[in-house]
Amino acid sequence: MKFLLLGVLLLVAFPGLSLSAEAPAHGDSCMVVSAHPAATRLGVTVLRQGGNATDAAVAVSFALAGCEPYSSGLGGGGFFMVFDAASGEVKSLDARETAPASAHRDMFLVDGQPDSDLSCNGPLAVGVPGLVAGLWELHQSGGRLPWNELVEAAAQEIKTLQVSPMLHHRLSYKSEYFNEAAKKVFLPDGHLPVVGTVLTQDDLFKTLQAIAQDGPDAFYHGAVAEAMVSVTRSNMTLADLAAYQPRWRSPVHGGYRDLDVYSMAPPSSGGVHLVQMLNILQSFDLQKTAFGSSASIHLLAEAMKFAYADRSRFLGDSDFVDVPLVWLTSPVHTDSIATLITAEKAYPENLIVGADLKDDESLETTHFSIIDSQGNALAATLTINLTFGSCLMAPGAGFFMNNEMDDFVAAPGTPNAFGLVGGEANSVQPGKRPLSSMTPTILLQDGQVRMVTGAPGGSKIITTTLQTIINVVDHKMDALQAVSASRVHHQWFPRLLYFEEFGLSPDTIANLEVMGHKLQSRSPMCNAQIIVVDPEGGLIQGASDPRGMGLASGF
Ligand code: GLY
Repeated sequence: MKFLLLGVLLLVAFPGLSLSAEAPAHGDSCMVVSAHPAATRLGVTVLRQGGNATDAAVAVSFALAGCEPYSSGLGGGGFFMVFDAASGEVKSLDARETAPASAHRDMFLVDGQPDSDLSCNGPLAVGVPGLVAGLWELHQSGGRLPWNELVEAAAQEIKTLQVSPMLHHRLSYKSEYFNEAAKKVFLPDGHLPVVGTVLTQDDLFKTLQAIAQDGPDAFYHGAVAEAMVSVTRSNMTLADLAAYQPRWRSPVHGGYRDLDVYSMAPPSSGGVHLVQMLNILQSFDLQKTAFGSSASIHLLAEAMKFAYADRSRFLGDSDFVDVPLVWLTSPVHTDSIATLITAEKAYPENLIVGADLKDDESLETTHFSIIDSQGNALAATLTINLTFGSCLMAPGAGFFMNNEMDDFVAAPGTPNAFGLVGGEANSVQPGKRPLSSMTPTILLQDGQVRMVTGAPGGSKIITTTLQTIINVVDHKMDALQAVSASRVHHQWFPRLLYFEEFGLSPDTIANLEVMGHKLQSRSPMCNAQIIVVDPEGGLIQGASDPRGMGLASGF
């Protein structure tokens, strides 16, 4: 065990170390890739027992709630992209949190200034959770195995979980903000638990068992609902919880080279800007400019900054505001951007119209990808927003409440925790869903799944997902190479092109600086979980990002 843990620690600290000796996981029937080995193994067990991708997604999501309490969980929400092989249809389910009825536009202003403490920490930060209702809806729509067995299996899985290096690290800097209920679970005897000790999450176990027996009623009504209301000091009410509804949405659809791309529509910005960037990049031969060259990175950066400027101007919950979705992803718009991109010079950010930013590292949020033996595929990105969400645990219920309200714009032009700026379209309104960057994505080739991808990482989700696609489609990488390769990120403001430390050679950096880019190195970005299907023969490759501690497993 010691050696195993040391291996995991090395991976977390030095992602590059794992690359040379490893290959992607292979399967010719099924694949599950998630950010935690226990969740992946449970997903594979479900598939082996005859469950489909939807069944596996239900079990994996509930297991991740216990495995990665810093990333996702019952107190949060998420998006699901589902490919149904029988009908050839791709549909998406929005289980995003909503603002409670008491929410209002200026709720995070103090003396006219946004107060990020209010939107990130404490009772006002919490949106009405959507995950449990979303998973129920997903299962009702296409699950095969009984709900109670899937949820019970996840509950059993979390009984034997050990404290991972990831969890330990996050507790070391976040647990001081926990409420008493959370401290009781994660700081037994008042101390950080040692890596490798078994984590006792009795309250979460009981909540999962209740959900297994009674479905979402056990969550949105009764004792668990009352615990959630109490921890938000009634900013969220029983009526808010009872009213929560997940929504089926038409995915954003685009084309890239010979592939069909399906990704998440508003209230996520992910799909719109992924398709937008792919449309822009379609005008350039990235295979010729080659992976890692200054010419390729320049083109990526240019596409990214135009897309993020649009994000700041136009994006919000389309149930409340008019998002010009068709125009944003249309060739009329994206070709006009492509004509502004030259090979020699970075387009000045201040000449791109948009709304401002700072930036912050974040590995929170989680993504998983699944393919089953019928050829169905599912991409899911789940979150409680920042690490451990609001740090408020619903007393007696064992899960953290999200702080998704920070994904709204507290005041137009003011950045949120991810440094993302927005406008009026993403202002707070009761019942509205805060704008997300989550980008669960499925790519089809001739009606068959070619790739399932997505990532956590706040504002970097969309650019990470983009680069996994470019790496496979243009640079012909295998799944592990595609998910491991060093990444860059530009979100229009601040006027910086981020790269992973040691990810670019000094001469590449120098070339990019000559073009006018201002570069800044940073710690590893995101924790993507991807599946790639070989179009010739159908062999399935899965790869979990070596920046994290996840697992790909297929059969
Ligand atoms: N909370 C991060 C996102 O939804 O993009």
